[in-house]
Amino acid sequence: QAAKVLTLDGPGGAGKGTISRLVAERLGWHLLDSGALYRLTALAARRHGVALDDEPALERLAATLDVEFLAEADATRILLEGDDVSREIRTEQAGDAASRVASLNGVRQALLQRQRDFRTPPGLVADGRDMGTVVFPDAELKVFLTASAEERARRRYLQLQEAGVDASLSSLLKEIQARDARDMQRSVAPLKPADDAIELDTTSLSIPEVVERLTEWLAQRG
Ligand code: C5P
Repeated sequence: QAAKVLTLDGPGGAGKGTISRLVAERLGWHLLDSGALYRLTALAARRHGVALDDEPALERLAATLDVEFLAEADATRILLEGDDVSREIRTEQAGDAASRVASLNGVRQALLQRQRDFRTPPGLVADGRDMGTVVFPDAELKVFLTASAEERARRRYLQLQEAGVDASLSSLLKEIQARDARDMQRSVAPLKPADDAIELDTTSLSIPEVVERLTEWLAQRG
Protein backbone atom coordinates (compact mmCIF):
# COMPACT_ATOMS: atom_id res chain seq x y z
CA GLN A 1 0.00 0.00 0.00
CA ALA A 2 1.28 3.44 -0.93
CA ALA A 3 2.34 5.90 1.79
CA LYS A 4 -0.22 8.51 2.88
CA VAL A 5 -0.25 11.91 1.23
CA LEU A 6 -1.57 15.29 2.31
CA THR A 7 -1.82 17.64 -0.67
CA LEU A 8 -1.72 21.41 -0.20
CA ASP A 9 -2.56 23.33 -3.34
CA GLY A 10 -3.35 26.97 -3.93
CA PRO A 11 -2.03 30.23 -5.30
CA GLY A 12 1.39 31.65 -4.43
CA GLY A 13 1.71 33.37 -1.07
CA ALA A 14 -1.20 31.56 0.60
CA GLY A 15 1.30 30.19 3.12
CA LYS A 16 1.59 26.71 1.64
CA GLY A 17 5.38 26.55 1.94
CA THR A 18 5.62 27.39 5.63
CA ILE A 19 2.54 25.40 6.53
CA SER A 20 3.66 22.31 4.60
CA ARG A 21 7.02 22.38 6.34
CA LEU A 22 5.46 22.71 9.80
CA VAL A 23 2.89 19.96 9.20
CA ALA A 24 5.57 17.62 7.80
CA GLU A 25 7.75 18.31 10.85
CA ARG A 26 4.87 17.70 13.23
CA LEU A 27 3.99 14.37 11.60
CA GLY A 28 7.54 13.30 10.79
CA TRP A 29 6.54 13.05 7.12
CA HIS A 30 8.51 13.87 3.99
CA LEU A 31 8.02 17.13 2.15
CA LEU A 32 7.64 17.85 -1.56
CA ASP A 33 8.03 21.49 -2.62
CA SER A 34 6.89 20.95 -6.21
CA GLY A 35 7.17 24.65 -7.06
CA ALA A 36 10.91 24.37 -6.41
CA LEU A 37 11.16 21.84 -9.26
CA TYR A 38 9.64 24.35 -11.70
CA ARG A 39 11.83 27.13 -10.32
CA LEU A 40 14.90 24.88 -10.70
CA THR A 41 13.96 24.02 -14.27
CA ALA A 42 13.71 27.74 -15.06
CA LEU A 43 17.04 28.41 -13.38
CA ALA A 44 18.71 25.54 -15.23
CA ALA A 45 17.36 27.00 -18.47
CA ARG A 46 19.01 30.32 -17.74
CA ARG A 47 22.28 28.65 -16.86
CA HIS A 48 22.29 26.63 -20.04
CA GLY A 49 21.08 29.41 -22.30
CA VAL A 50 17.77 27.70 -23.09
CA ALA A 51 14.89 30.00 -24.05
CA LEU A 52 11.74 29.83 -21.90
CA ASP A 53 9.62 28.83 -24.90
CA ASP A 54 11.88 26.09 -26.28
CA GLU A 55 9.69 23.22 -25.13
CA PRO A 56 11.77 20.23 -26.31
CA ALA A 57 14.94 21.64 -24.72
CA LEU A 58 13.11 22.54 -21.50
CA GLU A 59 11.60 19.08 -21.37
CA ARG A 60 15.08 17.53 -21.63
CA LEU A 61 16.35 19.85 -18.90
CA ALA A 62 13.45 18.92 -16.60
CA ALA A 63 13.97 15.21 -17.24
CA THR A 64 17.67 15.36 -16.39
CA LEU A 65 17.57 18.00 -13.66
CA ASP A 66 20.46 17.43 -11.23
CA VAL A 67 19.01 18.58 -7.90
CA GLU A 68 19.34 17.73 -4.24
CA PHE A 69 17.03 18.68 -1.38
CA LEU A 70 18.93 18.71 1.91
CA ALA A 71 16.70 18.90 5.00
CA GLU A 72 18.23 21.19 7.60
CA ALA A 73 17.11 22.57 10.95
CA ASP A 74 14.54 25.12 9.79
CA ALA A 75 14.75 25.09 6.02
CA THR A 76 15.70 22.91 3.08
CA ARG A 77 18.92 23.60 1.27
CA ILE A 78 18.52 23.18 -2.47
CA LEU A 79 21.39 22.32 -4.77
CA LEU A 80 21.31 22.62 -8.55
CA GLU A 81 24.22 20.86 -10.25
CA GLY A 82 25.98 20.95 -6.89
CA ASP A 83 25.53 24.71 -6.29
CA ASP A 84 23.43 26.09 -3.45
CA VAL A 85 20.58 27.99 -5.12
CA SER A 86 18.27 28.13 -2.07
CA ARG A 87 18.07 31.91 -2.22
CA GLU A 88 18.29 32.39 -5.96
CA ILE A 89 15.19 30.29 -6.67
CA ARG A 90 13.04 32.38 -4.30
CA THR A 91 13.25 35.63 -6.26
CA GLU A 92 10.14 36.95 -8.02
CA GLN A 93 12.01 36.63 -11.29
CA ALA A 94 12.58 32.91 -10.73
CA GLY A 95 8.91 32.53 -9.75
CA ASP A 96 7.79 34.26 -12.90
CA ALA A 97 10.10 32.14 -15.10
CA ALA A 98 8.88 29.03 -13.24
CA SER A 99 5.27 29.80 -14.05
CA ARG A 100 6.22 30.12 -17.73
CA VAL A 101 7.97 26.76 -17.95
CA ALA A 102 5.18 25.24 -15.83
CA SER A 103 2.66 26.00 -18.58
CA LEU A 104 4.42 23.54 -20.91
CA ASN A 105 2.96 20.04 -20.95
CA GLY A 106 6.29 18.39 -21.79
CA VAL A 107 7.92 19.91 -18.73
CA ARG A 108 5.05 18.84 -16.45
CA GLN A 109 5.21 15.27 -17.80
CA ALA A 110 8.97 15.16 -17.30
CA LEU A 111 8.59 16.16 -13.64
CA LEU A 112 5.65 13.87 -12.84
CA GLN A 113 7.49 10.69 -11.78
CA ARG A 114 10.13 12.67 -9.93
CA GLN A 115 7.36 14.15 -7.77
CA ARG A 116 5.70 10.78 -7.17
CA ASP A 117 9.03 9.35 -6.02
CA PHE A 118 8.80 11.57 -2.92
CA ARG A 119 5.93 9.40 -1.69
CA THR A 120 7.64 7.11 0.80
CA PRO A 121 6.64 5.96 4.32
CA PRO A 122 5.59 7.21 6.75
CA GLY A 123 3.93 9.85 4.54
CA LEU A 124 4.26 12.93 2.37
CA VAL A 125 3.09 16.52 2.54
CA ALA A 126 2.98 17.76 -1.07
CA ASP A 127 2.87 21.50 -1.76
CA GLY A 128 1.93 22.88 -5.18
CA ARG A 129 -0.80 23.70 -7.68
CA ASP A 130 -1.83 20.28 -9.01
CA MET A 131 -0.88 17.93 -6.18
CA GLY A 132 -4.48 16.88 -5.55
CA THR A 133 -5.73 17.05 -9.12
CA VAL A 134 -2.89 15.43 -11.10
CA VAL A 135 0.11 14.17 -9.14
CA PHE A 136 -1.57 12.45 -6.15
CA PRO A 137 -5.25 12.04 -7.08
CA ASP A 138 -5.63 9.32 -4.41
CA ALA A 139 -4.28 11.45 -1.53
CA GLU A 140 -5.64 10.88 1.99
CA LEU A 141 -6.50 14.53 2.44
CA LYS A 142 -6.55 17.37 -0.10
CA VAL A 143 -6.61 20.96 1.01
CA PHE A 144 -6.83 24.05 -1.19
CA LEU A 145 -5.38 27.05 0.64
CA THR A 146 -6.36 30.53 -0.44
CA ALA A 147 -5.98 34.09 0.83
CA SER A 148 -6.82 37.42 -0.76
CA ALA A 149 -4.26 38.72 -3.28
CA GLU A 150 -3.62 41.77 -1.06
CA GLU A 151 -2.90 39.59 1.96
CA ARG A 152 -0.62 37.33 -0.08
CA ALA A 153 1.31 40.33 -1.42
CA ARG A 154 1.67 41.64 2.13
CA ARG A 155 2.99 38.27 3.38
CA ARG A 156 5.45 38.00 0.50
CA TYR A 157 6.63 41.54 1.19
CA LEU A 158 7.32 40.75 4.86
CA GLN A 159 9.06 37.52 3.88
CA LEU A 160 11.33 39.31 1.43
CA GLN A 161 12.07 42.08 3.91
CA GLU A 162 13.05 39.49 6.47
CA ALA A 163 15.37 37.89 3.94
CA GLY A 164 16.90 41.31 3.23
CA VAL A 165 15.53 41.45 -0.31
CA ASP A 166 14.29 44.78 -1.69
CA ALA A 167 10.70 44.80 -2.94
CA SER A 168 7.72 47.07 -3.47
CA LEU A 169 4.29 46.10 -2.21
CA SER A 170 2.42 47.37 -5.25
CA SER A 171 4.65 45.60 -7.75
CA LEU A 172 4.40 42.39 -5.72
CA LEU A 173 0.62 42.63 -5.88
CA LYS A 174 0.75 43.06 -9.65
CA GLU A 175 3.10 40.10 -10.03
CA ILE A 176 0.91 37.92 -7.83
CA GLN A 177 -2.18 38.78 -9.86
CA ALA A 178 -0.39 38.11 -13.15
CA ARG A 179 0.95 34.78 -11.90
CA ASP A 180 -2.48 33.74 -10.55
CA ALA A 181 -4.05 34.49 -13.91
CA ARG A 182 -1.41 32.51 -15.79
CA ASP A 183 -1.65 29.54 -13.40
CA MET A 184 -5.46 29.44 -13.54
CA GLN A 185 -5.85 29.96 -17.27
CA ARG A 186 -3.27 27.53 -18.62
CA SER A 187 -4.63 24.50 -20.43
CA VAL A 188 -2.45 21.88 -18.68
CA ALA A 189 -3.01 21.27 -14.96
CA PRO A 190 -4.59 24.67 -14.27
CA LEU A 191 -4.70 25.88 -10.68
CA LYS A 192 -8.05 24.75 -9.28
CA PRO A 193 -9.24 22.77 -6.27
CA ALA A 194 -9.71 19.02 -6.74
CA ASP A 195 -13.39 18.01 -6.56
CA ASP A 196 -12.72 16.32 -3.23
CA ALA A 197 -10.49 19.07 -1.76
CA ILE A 198 -11.38 21.10 1.32
CA GLU A 199 -10.97 24.82 0.70
CA LEU A 200 -9.46 26.86 3.50
CA ASP A 201 -9.23 30.65 3.35
CA THR A 202 -6.23 31.69 5.45
CA THR A 203 -6.63 35.47 5.07
CA SER A 204 -7.44 35.93 8.74
CA LEU A 205 -5.88 32.76 10.18
CA SER A 206 -2.46 32.53 11.81
CA ILE A 207 0.03 29.90 10.69
CA PRO A 208 -0.31 27.83 13.92
CA GLU A 209 -4.11 27.90 13.51
CA VAL A 210 -3.85 26.48 9.99
CA VAL A 211 -1.33 23.82 11.06
CA GLU A 212 -3.64 22.81 13.90
CA ARG A 213 -6.64 22.51 11.64
CA LEU A 214 -4.80 20.41 9.05
CA THR A 215 -3.42 17.96 11.60
CA GLU A 216 -6.90 17.61 13.12
CA TRP A 217 -8.48 16.89 9.73
CA LEU A 218 -5.79 14.34 9.00
CA ALA A 219 -6.29 12.63 12.37
CA GLN A 220 -10.04 12.43 11.66
CA ARG A 221 -9.32 10.58 8.43
CA GLY A 222 -7.28 8.00 10.37
O1 C5P B 1 4.89 27.54 -5.41
P1 C5P B 1 5.89 28.36 -6.18
O2 C5P B 1 5.68 29.82 -6.10
O3 C5P B 1 7.30 27.98 -5.84
O4 C5P B 1 5.67 27.92 -7.69
C1 C5P B 1 6.26 28.63 -8.76
C2 C5P B 1 5.45 28.42 -10.02
O5 C5P B 1 5.55 27.05 -10.42
C3 C5P B 1 3.95 28.67 -9.87
O6 C5P B 1 3.58 30.00 -10.16
C4 C5P B 1 3.33 27.71 -10.87
O7 C5P B 1 3.24 28.30 -12.14
C5 C5P B 1 4.32 26.60 -10.96
N1 C5P B 1 3.89 25.40 -10.26
C6 C5P B 1 3.05 24.54 -10.93
N2 C5P B 1 2.67 23.37 -10.36
C7 C5P B 1 3.07 23.05 -9.13
C8 C5P B 1 3.90 23.94 -8.39
C9 C5P B 1 4.27 25.12 -9.00
O8 C5P B 1 2.65 24.81 -12.05
N3 C5P B 1 2.69 21.89 -8.59
